This record gives sequence, structure tokens and C-alpha cells, in this order.
Amino acid sequence: MSSASWFSRAILPWYRENARPLPWRATRDPYRIWLSEVILQQTRVDQGSAYWHRFVERYPTVEQLAAAPEDAVLRLWQGLGYYTRARNLLLAARQVVDQHAGCFPDDFDALKELKGIGDYTAAAIASIAFNRPEPVVDGNVYRVLSRVFGISTPIDSTLGRREFRELAGVLIDREAPGDHNQAVMELGAMVCKPVAPDCGTCPLTSRCVARSSGHISELPVKVGRTAVRERHFNYLYIPVDGGFYLRKRVERDIWQGLYELPLLETLRPASEKRLQKDLEKLGGGGLCLKQRSQEVIHLLTHQRIKTVFWKVEARSDHRPPDDWLLVRFDALDHHALPRPIERYLGTMATAKMR
Ligand code: ADE
Repeated sequence: MSSASWFSRAILPWYRENARPLPWRATRDPYRIWLSEVILQQTRVDQGSAYWHRFVERYPTVEQLAAAPEDAVLRLWQGLGYYTRARNLLLAARQVVDQHAGCFPDDFDALKELKGIGDYTAAAIASIAFNRPEPVVDGNVYRVLSRVFGISTPIDSTLGRREFRELAGVLIDREAPGDHNQAVMELGAMVCKPVAPDCGTCPLTSRCVARSSGHISELPVKVGRTAVRERHFNYLYIPVDGGFYLRKRVERDIWQGLYELPLLETLRPASEKRLQKDLEKLGGGGLCLKQRSQEVIHLLTHQRIKTVFWKVEARSDHRPPDDWLLVRFDALDHHALPRPIERYLGTMATAKMR
């Protein structure tokens, strides 16, 4: 008799029959598995696969990634958001090379010492690449477990996190922990969906407490939303000599390491007069605001960025600050850009071609 839980005995056969044939499931290489898990924390499988292929093609080994310049890694990551993950990816690759001779450590605690690797990623790599019985708990797992077991402890509370992690640890199949973990996540992604779950095809449906008690749509329970901070970004598009200026964001803030148009950030929506004054302080004399775009709102997890783009005229005697770079459209590929800047410059490039 197998020691596996009823839960595992039900989902493993389902997974082996129904799992999507994703490229990182065909390998035990911890480097490739780690890349997939970090990318999938940012995006869905369909978009994530394209990024994963680009990363493994450009950097087939952890040594090659470790040797990459940060700008190139950020450029490859462009569009995924949360750029700290990309910077941490590079730092962790360098740790693996410098501290572990290029071999990923094979247990949970040592994996957690690597930059950007928390409980989730450490458990995913330890179980999938090294067969260690470490339970993963992500949003999909919270949803599946809260519904199947009818648990209403909030998943964003200390108590909830502990309770779900302990339950996941009890349920895990010790012979096939990697497949078990992926099976729970896959079930959450493909069947036990947030809205309109497909209970008819679920291998756990006969044991599901939420289904039998009619509480599917109320689970999992989440208590607090963190406050969203509103920011006002006024970007300056300054055409000069067939190019325009970009500046690298070096501050410890969103988009650190990416390139953006020169920025005037204000606490409130600002008048043209006020911005013109700020512009003189930022860029020296000889710059004049001309044409304002519509406001574009860019949403991040904890920030709402209200963005306006200004066309700015530069007098021929204007001298830019030292950290402004004059860039042409054909050199944009070498610079990682935040999404709103990428979109705006895309429309400017198209307008220029007409
Ligand atoms: N989501 C993130 N990683 C996953 C994996 N390995 N399998 C299924 N879903 C996932």
C-alpha cells in the first residue's frame, strides 16, 4: 500500500494524463527550472514560455547568465515588470557560480540563500529538480486547498500561511514531490480556476468541501488589500539631432536600471507653468514645454502611475545634464524600457516613419 495521501493518489494520475507539455517539464536541470519558476511568478504560461525560450537560448547555462551585463538581462526581461526579479536573477546566477562552482545547491535552506529565492521558489526547485519533499504554496495551491478542505483562514494572514503550508506538507507525495507540487498548481491553473471552476473534470470533486457545501466562490478568503500609492509622472520627449534623451533610473525605486525619458515627478497633477519651472531646474535653460499628451494610467501592484508625455523644444545652445543620453530610434533595442515609455516611443517612431 502506498504511503501517499488520498489527495496525491487522485491528482498524480490526473496530472500525468493532463499536464501541459511545457518545455521546462522535460528537464531536471535546476537552472532551467529556476528560470521557469521566476518567470512564471510574473506572467502566465503562454507569455512566459516565449521569455523562457529567449533566456535559455541567449544564456544556456548559469555561467553564461552570470557573465551577462545587467542591461542585457533587463532588456531580455522587458515587458515582464517587477524588474527587481531580473536583477536578482543575475545576482543569484553569480552566487551559484562564485559560491557553488556553478552547481545549484540541492536543498531548500541553501537555495533560500540565493538572491530572490524565497519559500516558493526554493520548494519548487528542491522538489522538481532534486526530488525533495518540500511543499510549494502559491496562489493556485491556496485556491485548491482552501476549496477542497473548506478552509476559510485568510491566506494573507500569518496563521493562514502557516496552516496552508503545514497542510501542503502533510499531503505531499514523498516519492514524487515534484510532480505532486506541479499537479496541484496545474489543477489550480486549469481546472480549479478563480471564476467558473471546471468541477466536472476535477479529480477531487467527490471530496471537495467547497463544492458540497456551496462555498466555491467564497474561497479562498483574503482580508486586506494594501494601499495603492498614486504618483504623477511627467515625461519629456526632447527631439534633438534626429534622436531624443533617455536617462537610466538608478534610484532604489520601481524600474531601477531601466531607461526612461527625462522625468518630472510631482505630488499632484501639475500646471504647465509649474512644470516649466521644474524643467528649468532639471535640464538647465533652453528647454520649453510645447505639447501635452493625454494622461495614461499605468497600474502596478501597489502604485498607480498617472503619466503625461510632453513634447519639449530644445534651443540649439541647450546643454543636457551629464546623465542624459542622446539616443536614436534605431538604438532603442539596446535599452530596457518601462512599458509606458516603450508604448509612447513606439507611437513616436511610427509617426516619424509616416
Ligand atoms: N506555476 C508555476 N510553476 C508551475 C509549475 N511548475 N507547474 C504548474 N504551474 C506552475
